[in-house]
Amino acid sequence: MKNQNQSQNPFSSGGKAMNMSLVKLLSCLFFFVSGLTFGILLCFHYKSFSFNLLVTNSQFSIFTSQSSSSKPPNVIMHNMSDQELLWRASMIPRIQEFPFKIRPKIAFMFLIRGPVLLAPLWELFFKGNEGLYSIYVHSDPSFNESDPQGSVFHGRRIPSKKVEWGHVNMIEAERRLLANALLDFSNQHFVLLSESCIPLYNFSTVYSYLMNSTQNFVEEYDLPGPVGRGRYSILMQPLIKLDQWRKGSQWFEMDRDLAIEVIADNTYFPVFQNYCNGSCYADEHYLPTFVSMKFEGRNSYRSLTWVDWSKGGPHPAKFIRTDVTPEFLEQLRSGNSCKYNGKETNVCFLFARKFTLNALDRLLKFAPMVMHFNK
Ligand SMILES: *[C@@H]1O[C@H](CO)[C@@H](O)[C@H](O)[C@H]1NC(C)=O
Ligand SMILES: *[C@@H]1O[C@H](CO)[C@@H](O)[C@H](O)[C@H]1NC(C)=O
Ligand SMILES: *[C@@H]1O[C@H](CO)[C@@H](O)[C@H](O)[C@H]1NC(C)=O
Ligand SMILES: *[C@@H]1O[C@H](CO)[C@@H](O)[C@H](O)[C@H]1NC(C)=O
Ligand SMILES: *[C@@H]1O[C@H](CO)[C@@H](O)[C@H](O)[C@H]1NC(C)=O
Repeated sequence: MKNQNQSQNPFSSGGKAMNMSLVKLLSCLFFFVSGLTFGILLCFHYKSFSFNLLVTNSQFSIFTSQSSSSKPPNVIMHNMSDQELLWRASMIPRIQEFPFKIRPKIAFMFLIRGPVLLAPLWELFFKGNEGLYSIYVHSDPSFNESDPQGSVFHGRRIPSKKVEWGHVNMIEAERRLLANALLDFSNQHFVLLSESCIPLYNFSTVYSYLMNSTQNFVEEYDLPGPVGRGRYSILMQPLIKLDQWRKGSQWFEMDRDLAIEVIADNTYFPVFQNYCNGSCYADEHYLPTFVSMKFEGRNSYRSLTWVDWSKGGPHPAKFIRTDVTPEFLEQLRSGNSCKYNGKETNVCFLFARKFTLNALDRLLKFAPMVMHFNK
């Protein structure tokens, strides 16, 4: 083999060299023609794709095309590695104006284990607002049931990996959700939700609240003691210092600019991957610390997801059927005060957790009346 290669070396003899140039010319030509063909095909492919986009206002993604024939049911299918996914999602168009009309959407990202427990409530929430939202679901890879055709969750599962409570792979899942959602350019705001989350307001209120907000909602605070600063590791120096360490709720809402920063963070996130696993609970520290260090200016310091820690312990309180009353829901909706775009308001929480499956029927019963859901 080696000899053959050597004998074909164009510098070995004059006659061979002539021969070789011909071969080279021909192969060049071949590659040129096939390259051209490929280019033309690609061109047509994208033309018909963006045409599709204009006409149907369907989901725009820089990766997937409309060819869905080979798609296994129920999963937003791509086979990109996390590395490639994050890279693609990190791209920012330098031309600000869209070449076509888009309606800005909110990405609702569900980080769950199995099925969306309170799906019927969310169905009611989304109903009639098609085109203004997109849904992404990250569930345990072992979960293999599919959502029924016609459900808003059908076909919205992203390629997922195992997530363990408190483990840094929880943030990896959040970044995976964000990256999938970022591929659709019409997604402008990104909300992370759990399987026990409920909406407290109707879609139109949530939509304007988020679209009109000048700030992101990533809770962050500095907490002395073992469950705050105590989880910091000296090994995180010099990139992260103790006085930069923050804590906050995992359940965030952020705009596109911040979402891109989060998935593109190759500086601070690896520090968490290396030194904040196990009982460090990265999900309570990574975003608060990152946002506090780099993007504090546009943060509201608060979460939009209400949760009750008053009972103590490592998990917040759970609400069952008998807890759900109109008064309780009204209290969550307007019994607080906070700032929104610099002004005092009593609409502080748009979502709440943790609600159990057996609370569902009463939530469904009160939602139209208390939460003004479309009937
Ligand atoms: C992804 O799919 C393409 C075509 O279907 C295939 O050529 C490629 O090897 C796949 N990549 C991975 C990482 O599975
Ligand atoms: C789903 O998983 C369960 C157990 O993990 C298995 O018994 C069942 O056959 C699977 N169903 C499908 C449709 O793959
Ligand atoms: C933002 O607020 C303005 C003024 O209150 C309102 O007219 C507009 O509809 C809101 N935008 C959205 C997207 O809801
Ligand atoms: C945490 O990460 C360190 C360093 O990578 C590793 O040695 C350790 O086993 C990990 N601990 C857990 C609980 O994953
Ligand atoms: C949504 O709820 C608000 C009150 O919170 C109400 O004024 C509005 O009419 C509702 N929107 C729809 C479309 O029902």
